[in-house]
Amino acid sequence: MDINTNNISALVLAAGKGTRMHSQLPKVLHTLLGEPMLAYVLDALKPLFPKNIRVVIGHQAEQVRQALQEKVSHFVMQQEQLGTGHALMQAWPALKAAGMGYVLVVNGDTPLLHTERISWFIQACRQNSADLAFMSMTMRDPGSYGRVLRRSGRVAAVVEAKDYDNLQHGPDSREINLGIYLLRISSIDHLLSKITTDNKSHEYYITDLVALAADSGLKVTALDQGEDDALLGVNTPLELVRSEENLRRKLAAAWLSRGALLRNPHMISIGPRVVLEPGCEITGPCELYGSTVVKTGAVLDSHVWVNNSIIGPRCRVRSFSHLDGARMDEGSDIGPFARLRQGSVLEENAHVGNFVEMKKTVLGKGAKAGHLAYLGDSEIGPAANIGAGTITCNYDGKQKHQTKIGAGAFIGSNAALVAPVQIGDGALVGAGSVITKDVPAESLAVARGRQQNINKSRRAKD
Ligand code: UD1
Ligand code: CA
Repeated sequence: MDINTNNISALVLAAGKGTRMHSQLPKVLHTLLGEPMLAYVLDALKPLFPKNIRVVIGHQAEQVRQALQEKVSHFVMQQEQLGTGHALMQAWPALKAAGMGYVLVVNGDTPLLHTERISWFIQACRQNSADLAFMSMTMRDPGSYGRVLRRSGRVAAVVEAKDYDNLQHGPDSREINLGIYLLRISSIDHLLSKITTDNKSHEYYITDLVALAADSGLKVTALDQGEDDALLGVNTPLELVRSEENLRRKLAAAWLSRGALLRNPHMISIGPRVVLEPGCEITGPCELYGSTVVKTGAVLDSHVWVNNSIIGPRCRVRSFSHLDGARMDEGSDIGPFARLRQGSVLEENAHVGNFVEMKKTVLGKGAKAGHLAYLGDSEIGPAANIGAGTITCNYDGKQKHQTKIGAGAFIGSNAALVAPVQIGDGALVGAGSVITKDVPAESLAVARGRQQNINKSRRAKD
């Protein structure tokens, strides 16, 4: 039977609790560079299995489903997490019904596995037409991974670290199982029911299939991948940050070689979906995540955090600024200490200075908010000037309301604009005003107590 991806289903095991992470979050949703571990595995499989990826979920299944449904064709429920063998059993009827000859099983906690490696594995399996093949690796310290046992060079079993007994199994094997398997469905079918829970964890191990297959004369192959940390499963916070650091280094180096100037590159984290155009400049420490794009000539100083934002050509982001879901058009600049929240837009050459917070607000071309302001649910016209201390009072305790500020308007310092409210083009709002009514274009609005100067000595006699 030919092995090609038209004849293989992909199955990802992702139902486990991840006890060793000591966290409420399901293990496969823990992130590396801002993306869930499981998303990496699915992205690696997608080019080879565009419409045929099944994922076994169980522990906090809804949360996993919600986070990744766009990338998955079918979810399989494993109500109780009784082990990796049990997870496979839950998916087996659907796999058989799908009518494919093979299933590629991948542990969901192997985030750095990439498409080329899977493709290579499938090619290698095609050449030696095994009934059961899996990836292995030789390590100096096999740690908590399952060990591959060979007899006269032939794979005989995989024994879990917990169950390894030197008397029974011989000196410690340094060849470990990487948790990526290709199974010929017709050959493995009758073996599945023979997996027991007779082990230290009282779980059904998928790895028991190795000895069961070898003992019944099937062809079993372990394809040794050499030392490659990227293929190791992630079970603990330490393993997670090691994998994340491994990936971070690779991505930073890749962007540098494509012409992005990264200073202190060892302190720059760039998520896998981020795009840096050649000729942008970023100084670490700095973090860029999600679908962020940094265009040519943009400069980001150190200590900047960016998520899902577009930083246009020749923009400047000064230190300690925080951008989430924002867009900066050409030549605009922010910070230091600026915060652009969801839906903030700076049009060309707009300027935001220190301690300014924006949310769902468009700051028009060349408009300025130089210091200490909150601009929420607002539309601010081109060349407007927002004085220090300006607050758009957008929330009445129940609902959010809009503020509209016209082109060239000037808002004096410490003004409170109580929304919904409109300030016309070229209008002027006096400092310290509380504006509750619309201000027509080209007029001056002053809304504050009149100043009185009272003679102190006269007051004392009264
Ligand atoms: C597993 C292998 C081990 C191998 C290692 C490689 C077994 C018994 N052992 O060990 O030989 O060296 O991977 O990284 O398979 N899962 C379920 N349902 C369950 C239990 C687990 O879907 O009931 C999922 C987990 O979410 C995880 C994957 O299966 O993504 C592997 O489970 P895990 O508990 O991490 O296995 P390891 O102990 O690492
Ligand atoms: Ca694991």
